[in-house]
Amino acid sequence: MGKGVNRTKASTKAIAKEVSSEQENKEPPGPKPLPVLGNILQLDLKRPYLTLWEMSKKYGSVFTVYFGPKKVVVLAGYQTVKQALVNNAEEFGNRDISPIFSEFSKGHGILFSNGENWREMRRFSLATLRDFGMGKRRSEEKIIEEARYLREVLDDLHGKPFDTSQPLNYATSNVISAIVYGSRFQYSDPQFKEMVNRTNENIKISGSPSAQIYNMFPWLGCWLKDLKLLMTNRVYNLKQIEDLVASLEETLNLEETRGLVDTFLIRKKNAEKAGDKETLFNEQNLLMTVSNLFAAGTDTTSTTLRWCLLLMAKYPQIQDGVQEEIDRVIGHRQAVMEDRKNLPYTDAVIHETQRLANIVPMSLPHTTTCDVEFQGFFIKKGTCVFPLLASVLKDETQWESPLTFNPAHFLDEQGQFIKRDAFMPFSAGRRVCLGESLARMELFLFFTSLLQHFRFTPPPGVSEDQLDLTPAVGFTLNPSPHKLCAVSRASHTYA
Ligand code: HEM
Repeated sequence: MGKGVNRTKASTKAIAKEVSSEQENKEPPGPKPLPVLGNILQLDLKRPYLTLWEMSKKYGSVFTVYFGPKKVVVLAGYQTVKQALVNNAEEFGNRDISPIFSEFSKGHGILFSNGENWREMRRFSLATLRDFGMGKRRSEEKIIEEARYLREVLDDLHGKPFDTSQPLNYATSNVISAIVYGSRFQYSDPQFKEMVNRTNENIKISGSPSAQIYNMFPWLGCWLKDLKLLMTNRVYNLKQIEDLVASLEETLNLEETRGLVDTFLIRKKNAEKAGDKETLFNEQNLLMTVSNLFAAGTDTTSTTLRWCLLLMAKYPQIQDGVQEEIDRVIGHRQAVMEDRKNLPYTDAVIHETQRLANIVPMSLPHTTTCDVEFQGFFIKKGTCVFPLLASVLKDETQWESPLTFNPAHFLDEQGQFIKRDAFMPFSAGRRVCLGESLARMELFLFFTSLLQHFRFTPPPGVSEDQLDLTPAVGFTLNPSPHKLCAVSRASHTYA
């Protein structure tokens, strides 16, 4: 077998013959890199996904680009991304852990870990999230309860313009809190507010040009102001998680677990009792797993909801369609997950929002677990790979009108909901989003509940045309800063 090439599976994945040096040289093409700087001068560091997407038109769906000295293989378009992440899931399934994250997580948790640690923490978190109701009735109840609190906040605004970020961040963060800690926080709790705000600030900084420069040239150090802020925020957030965990530990009841932290603490205590010094159920993994669930689950879901509301305000006819369907099918009662199959238009609008908003445009970076031959190219073990989800969600070969907001992408001629293969906002394969089913529940229940009660409009004096759909800079694509009005649909009184 040639040079450590994985031969376990057929076709494009692994090479069942000797890899000649000629093949090894057949690396994916790409723009010529400069020494040290690589292709950095050709990349828009504020919106690298756009430059990469442009480059894919010139170099093809598998190409190489250098972020400074770091070599990255970019995968573009539905067929290629699917072939890599789904058909070659094992080979493309490791996480690339950039300097900005490795110093923080040190191989612990789920998001930025690999190997046995990743496998164990992912398995534990998925199983525990399911036990605490992910995708089931129990989390449905938690989301419905949270939607009531959220509505109260919007009611209190009496239709005045407001920035949608905070209330939505607080609501989605509380859903994770209820699952992880076993209880929610008051929106007015200063500690809670700080924790949510710091997490969101860090997600923004992680996608900024300075964070990218640091990842390319870590020896420059974290002297930039926003990188210092990122580090400070992390320290405060970890301390806060530590305090919350400590108070849960004091009141731990082995017979009745309140949330994921309790379940973890019991596993940890059992391992300690059994004298298992190698156990992965240790303090660092607990803190990092909790921190990962908040970081990955709060901003993503609330950002998507913000896009949903912004698009409703921008396209009032589409909002009419959603509200007509909700009024007709649900009327005044509380929406439940069972209703989704009877609300095809509403479901299509949520899916279309996720497609167009494309909030994680480059997914999270992967690496190859072994040498791979892929579409005739040689990709060395350990190469960083960007699955360009933006190019899948807007792939011209898959979508009738890739760049416009068109809920019909998800409807058949009879107006029934249809699934689309290239709908991949949660990525795919071995590293697919762990919270997908929880996120989908949240999007459906929060969105229907809000649209049932409020009409979303631009602030007075701002026309629908003036609502800007250009995303802000960040690791996840948020809408640019804006305000909306949530006008009570007064004739409705709901239980
Ligand atoms: C609309 C909401 C969400 C979107 C669009 C989203 C999207 C994603 C994407 C694109 C990835 C990277 C997958 C890859 O590496 O290829 C990911 C990973 C992840 N997501 Fe989500 N996510 C959402 C909500 C959530 C929620 C609610 C949770 C928590 C319960 C969560 C937890 C995670 C975790 C832990 C990972 C890392 C998985 C791993 O490395 O094995 N996400 N998500």
